[in-house]
Amino acid sequence: MKRTHHCGELRRSDIGSTAILNGWIDSVRDHGGVLFVDLRDREGVTQVVFNPQQGDAISRALHQLKPESVIVVEGRVTERENDAVNPRLATGEVEVHAESCTLLNSSRTPPFPIEDRKGDRVNEDLRLTYRYLDLRRPKNLAVLKKRHRACKIIRDYMDEEGFIEVETPMLFKSTPEGAREYLVPSRVNPGEFYALAQSPQQFKQMLMVAGVERYFQLARCFRDEDGRADRQPEFTQVDLEMSFIDREDMYALIEGMMQRLWKGLLDVDLDLPFERLSYQDAMNNYGSDRPDRRFGFKLADLNDIFKGSEFKVFKRVIDGGGHVKAINAKGLSDITEGELKYLTDMATAMGAKGLAFIRARKSGLWKSPILKFFSDAEIAALRERMEIEDGDLVFFMAAGWERACSILGKVRLEAAALLRKRGILAIDPSIWEFFWVIEFPLMVFDDEAGRFVSAHHPFTAPLVEDRHFLDEDPRLARGQHYDLVLNGMELGGGSIRIHQPDLQQKVFEEVLQLPKEVIEDRFGYMVNAFRYGAPPHGGIALGLDRIVGLLCGTASIRDVIAFPKTQKGQCLMSSSPGPVTEKQHRDLHIRSRVVEKRRP
Ligand code: AMO
Ligand code: AMP
Repeated sequence: MKRTHHCGELRRSDIGSTAILNGWIDSVRDHGGVLFVDLRDREGVTQVVFNPQQGDAISRALHQLKPESVIVVEGRVTERENDAVNPRLATGEVEVHAESCTLLNSSRTPPFPIEDRKGDRVNEDLRLTYRYLDLRRPKNLAVLKKRHRACKIIRDYMDEEGFIEVETPMLFKSTPEGAREYLVPSRVNPGEFYALAQSPQQFKQMLMVAGVERYFQLARCFRDEDGRADRQPEFTQVDLEMSFIDREDMYALIEGMMQRLWKGLLDVDLDLPFERLSYQDAMNNYGSDRPDRRFGFKLADLNDIFKGSEFKVFKRVIDGGGHVKAINAKGLSDITEGELKYLTDMATAMGAKGLAFIRARKSGLWKSPILKFFSDAEIAALRERMEIEDGDLVFFMAAGWERACSILGKVRLEAAALLRKRGILAIDPSIWEFFWVIEFPLMVFDDEAGRFVSAHHPFTAPLVEDRHFLDEDPRLARGQHYDLVLNGMELGGGSIRIHQPDLQQKVFEEVLQLPKEVIEDRFGYMVNAFRYGAPPHGGIALGLDRIVGLLCGTASIRDVIAFPKTQKGQCLMSSSPGPVTEKQHRDLHIRSRVVEKRRP
């Protein structure tokens, strides 16, 4: 009994015809012997009616069946009586009067209801353990469909733009200068390890040397990082690389892709081109290199006001070359002591010496532990600069520029979250605030390591006009690096690469100060490849999971990955990771310190 229709397909125009439906029993309702079964498949739900006189055996059998059992039903499509029409169902004007029914498989009672419910409170661990049931839920199947549509739009677009999809190895080698890697022991090369690719970075550059010119891939990447809402240990990038291009070509290509995706999936027209923001401006005004600009509270610089201040904390920092920055969290003067402590602890954990504040009470009274140190002129200047009104809360941070900005940037986000919770700040969900952040520093000095590390990765080219800084002061060199940001989330990042072997060698050796053997062992082939006619090239990688998450309106990328990992990197459905046998260890020439305890 092959299906003639999907469960979401029958309409008024089908009345009078015979239909065969396959699907899962969503629910059974008994109305005085007449059974109403909601039958569900991937495409929707149809009401099937079993009359007692038609099939006593069927009805009796159905009574025994649990929801989620799989059946096939044949019957006549009939008009529903007026008051029985269900406007919430696409098939709500009709029902199928069963003439025969076969059980294909019965189900146990599911551990949670499958039907979509508002305010679903099923525990996430339980959902992930039974992910195959969780995915049966229409809203989750809709996410899988949306993800598929997004991939198709991307593939079609890239094809039109002349890109070819090439797969690159996942078993790669361990390289320094990146995230923590997953290692895979080699059986046939005792004592040696692969690393799972963090990204196809080096291979895509080799494809450019190979003359592919335009490469793309929906690439699986692996990073042994702690899980977060927007991070998975195994995730997917829309990865691409192009030869003979500049940054403008890249911006235009990606903007076109975003426009297609938003039109195709949300019917939203994005305005192009996207705005561009320098790293300097993003940090200075929002305290983040991926600012959320859907609300205000911009960071202000108060050095001019406090440079001769009596307040030693501020004066000392300014005299030492640092900055006093502030934000006005408008309307948050009723912050609780607990919330204030949370913010202060957060700032301290990020290296702040303290988090000074002024509460402008609704009564007009200002309360602050530091007010007593300020002169009348300073208070007046402050009131004007920060536009302080009754009910506001102003935070201050005095520190080196970068630290002051980034800490206040976090305080700004947390303050906005508190105001949203109070219903004072509303963010319009129809705002899509895309922009590029550019002109990042090429290198940052790592105090712990005592040397420079790449801000993006060591293959990023410096701005042509900043190249001389590599010799003079690498801190001042800006990179040809670009990040795509949407609503405060980093969607992607990339750069124009170094293609000159001598410059690449210089960055590894003189700027990053990697030992010669490490350069030779880990990157030697790359520098060598560049000696065989490497074209100028550049690329980018976009986080596919993050893009789909935003398109589906969810903040957690676990919701848009079919089989995601938990915070601890586990797959609860298949129970991985798990221990392996002593023999497997032996075959791989490795010994585990905990194997004795956990041997299966
Ligand atoms: P980058 O490391 O910036 O660049 O990564 C690019 C994008 O990938 C996404 N992303 C993640 N998504 C989910 N979980 C993770 N753990 C995770 N880590 C990163 C983000 C990020 O913007 N090879 C370079 C790109 C290039 O230079 O072309 C790279 O991987 O959305
Ligand atoms: P103190 O004089 O150290 O008691 O500091 C007075 C207030 O200023 C306290 O509320 C501190 O939290 C705050 N504070 C101290 N250092 C800083 C700083 N570097 N930036 C901002 N606020 C600070």
